Amino acid sequence: MPRPDTLSAAHSSARRDALQALGRTALAWALGSLFGPAAAQGPVLQRWPGGGYPFTLGVASGEPLPGSVVLWTRLLPNPRDLQPALPPQPIEVRWELAEDARFSRGLRSGVTLALPEHAHSVHVEVAGLKPGWRYHYRFIAGGHASEVGRTLTAPAPDADVQRLRLALASCQHYEHGRYAVHREIAQQDIDAVLFVGDYIYEKSNAHWLHRRHLHPLPATLDEYRAHHASYKLDADLRAAHAAHPWILNLDDHDVQNDYTGDLPGVAGEPVAGFLARRARAYKAYFEHLPVSPRRAPRGPHFAIHQQLAWGRLADIWVLDTRQFRSPRACHDPSRPDGRPLLTRQPGFDGPEGLPHAPDWLYCDQVATRGAQTMLGSAQERWLAAGLARSERRWKLLAQTTQISPSGVATPWGRVIYSDAWDGYPAARERLLQAIAEPCVPGVVALGGDVHRSVAANLRLDPNDTASPIIASEFCCSSVTTRGLSELQAMLVRRSNPDTLHLRSDERGYALLDIGPREMACTFRATASPVRADARLHTQARFVVDARRPGPQRD
Ligand SMILES: [Fe+2]
Repeated sequence: MPRPDTLSAAHSSARRDALQALGRTALAWALGSLFGPAAAQGPVLQRWPGGGYPFTLGVASGEPLPGSVVLWTRLLPNPRDLQPALPPQPIEVRWELAEDARFSRGLRSGVTLALPEHAHSVHVEVAGLKPGWRYHYRFIAGGHASEVGRTLTAPAPDADVQRLRLALASCQHYEHGRYAVHREIAQQDIDAVLFVGDYIYEKSNAHWLHRRHLHPLPATLDEYRAHHASYKLDADLRAAHAAHPWILNLDDHDVQNDYTGDLPGVAGEPVAGFLARRARAYKAYFEHLPVSPRRAPRGPHFAIHQQLAWGRLADIWVLDTRQFRSPRACHDPSRPDGRPLLTRQPGFDGPEGLPHAPDWLYCDQVATRGAQTMLGSAQERWLAAGLARSERRWKLLAQTTQISPSGVATPWGRVIYSDAWDGYPAARERLLQAIAEPCVPGVVALGGDVHRSVAANLRLDPNDTASPIIASEFCCSSVTTRGLSELQAMLVRRSNPDTLHLRSDERGYALLDIGPREMACTFRATASPVRADARLHTQARFVVDARRPGPQRD
């Protein structure tokens, strides 16, 4: 909320040193890279009609690099309305960053513009900071100061770092429950939140309605913006953003359920129409999250994949599993979303005495499509080269879903889900070979999407206990979104010896405590649906020895 005591001093200071040298650097980043020369037309405002507190969506930081971090906010005095109340003109916003919460030590500041064509969002990439250092930051606009956020920069690439603590989270359907997970994350002593997709949901499910989206399901740009804004009205989500920098990945629901590359996940939507939707969804996503202006989406294209490092302790690859993936096996335009597939030839008789499985379930393409890809060939090569080159202790693959198998054995054969890595076995094999062939130690895959806590072995030949374990996998449960039934979860556990832990009945996140010798994964969880006052408990804990792949129950 506004703090009048600090406001007048801060505001007059804004006029005095509005564009000091370091501020200019950040301003150039924010405006030059993101908006281009045609942007920022019209008179710049310092106040707007009606006033009103503009920082209703809070503050956030992200993409911690050695000596730099991205600061974010959006000016929106009327967050519950579909149309923003601010005039269509650029508005001056001052940012401040310091080593202490009183903004007295090592103060850095500057002025940037919140532009109407970007929903008056602000992205400032502050460079030249101390590596591995904690900072406080805030924004000032229209006579109001934002709350103070906390962030940190990544350590120097050659720093001998002893710890990296991450909260791994995904899937926060607003309607499926409250954000108690974020309330706990906000209070954790961690270095960053690693959010691996489904920040918003573009769908509703009357079955699990515990609170309502404020607006119609999004299709237009205004609706995607309003959808993002309404998620950020949750105080626990805002607190988790204000407390830590976030490293972000996107998944299907951030745009549209089960889209694959340029193909929509909804029947009847033409490709051109879907790409226009993807552009609107990516733009709204960028406008509401601390993504570097260097990676701002251009139309339907968004540079989601990136590599980050944490001293000599860890490399983190954020992997894009949506934009470059090939169509699913047995793709049916009349039903383009993910579906169960029986990986057999159509007409397979099955066991004597049992009826045929339904014809629509059969698909003999799953295992035969060697060219299929989840990441696209360029991203595959980039990752494989990076893995082979990395000398850091841990190699973390921040992708969006589950790599280890999760199909179900039936009398007719194995049933897999077409949208998961199970539906792309050739792509999975190439990924695993990129780990096994150069014998890359310390690889841990981190995922979400599946709405269940998972600890699993990754083998070159999945589920073949004779095949060596080459890496480890942890998937977090969802913040709120519902998962498999107990029966389904039991069938998946029984059908997959690589799965060491699988719980779908509780919502939660995974707390990752990474050190030079071992890393621990603690699954924090609560009952579903999540209540506002829920307290989380430890559902299970696993450790991975840096010299030996595979999670061990602790
Ligand atoms: Fe999800």
